[in-house]
Amino acid sequence: MRIALLAGDGIGPEITAEAVKILKAVVGQEIEFDEALIGGAAWKVTGSPLPEETLKLCRSTDAILFGSVGDPECDHLERALRPEQAILGLRRELDLFANLRPARLFPELQAESPLKENRISGTDLMIVRELTGDVYFGTPRGQRKDDQNRREGFDTMRYNEDEVRRIARIGFETARTRSSNLCSIDKSNVLETSQLWRTIVLEVAQEYPDVALSHMYVDNAAMQLVRAPDQFDVIITGNLFGDILSDLASACVGSIGLLPSASLNSENKGLYEPIHGSAPDIAGQGKANPLGTILSGAMMLRYTLKREDDAARIEKAVATALEKGARTADLGGNMSTSEMGNAVLAALN
Ligand code: IPM
Ligand code: MG
Repeated sequence: MRIALLAGDGIGPEITAEAVKILKAVVGQEIEFDEALIGGAAWKVTGSPLPEETLKLCRSTDAILFGSVGDPECDHLERALRPEQAILGLRRELDLFANLRPARLFPELQAESPLKENRISGTDLMIVRELTGDVYFGTPRGQRKDDQNRREGFDTMRYNEDEVRRIARIGFETARTRSSNLCSIDKSNVLETSQLWRTIVLEVAQEYPDVALSHMYVDNAAMQLVRAPDQFDVIITGNLFGDILSDLASACVGSIGLLPSASLNSENKGLYEPIHGSAPDIAGQGKANPLGTILSGAMMLRYTLKREDDAARIEKAVATALEKGARTADLGGNMSTSEMGNAVLAALN
């Protein structure tokens, strides 16, 4: 197993180091990591946030373990050179269209949730977010002058039927592995793009009569995720709505530092990253929570490397460490990043 290791900016190097430690402990000699530059760290050395060499490495490895990108020193750069372009570029170049973002409440972290216990208990959902289309990549886009010479910005929200069909299938397949409830989230009362989305999802539903499908408008979904998150099992939604709702869901279950993600192409090759950002304010201080990245490593074992037992072992060790009281600062504790990694390591054995 050859893994591209892209630590990136801010806390990226600290958190990925812990995930590597855990993956090596679980898999042993069979896993090998090749490091490459990404994000602001890559721009500083090569002038590009996604250097050709990094892309080449990512194409040649089995999977990618990704830390985070984003660096205030790059805030002045034009959009094409900003660190965020690195992750968007990887998603597009590797056709990583299926983004799986689980949000599950660890019972011992109930107190970390901003929601009352009776609302949040039992929450265990999976957001399946489309990742290579929508307003993120639609053209035309840009800034121009309108007919009264005022500056205007514009983006294009678009999906074709193939793009919707393939993410819908991932949603239905994912629902089958859980409790066979799928909720498709759109804004079809207003948007043409969403009307097509809903039409195609309904067509695909014919192939999955065993899955209970429902639909919800995105504004209502945001409200429902706060009101009663346990009503959801698997959610499918487009790129922009998924971006917003996944942050919301992560806050509901406690800390954003805990949540992993997988971004897969049609061959299940994947990029694995925590859903949080680079946290430049605490970078290099050993304060960051590595669990989101460690759990992303578990997802890598599950989805790309097909080692379900090892994936479950890591997830169990994380739960055990939390049960035993392991807490980084974001969870109200004072463990360092590597102490948290060590707590998971100890729970593995
Ligand atoms: C995410 C992030 C990215 C996105 C940014 C960094 C481009 O917010 O992965 O959710 O908007 O997709
Ligand atoms: Mg986001």
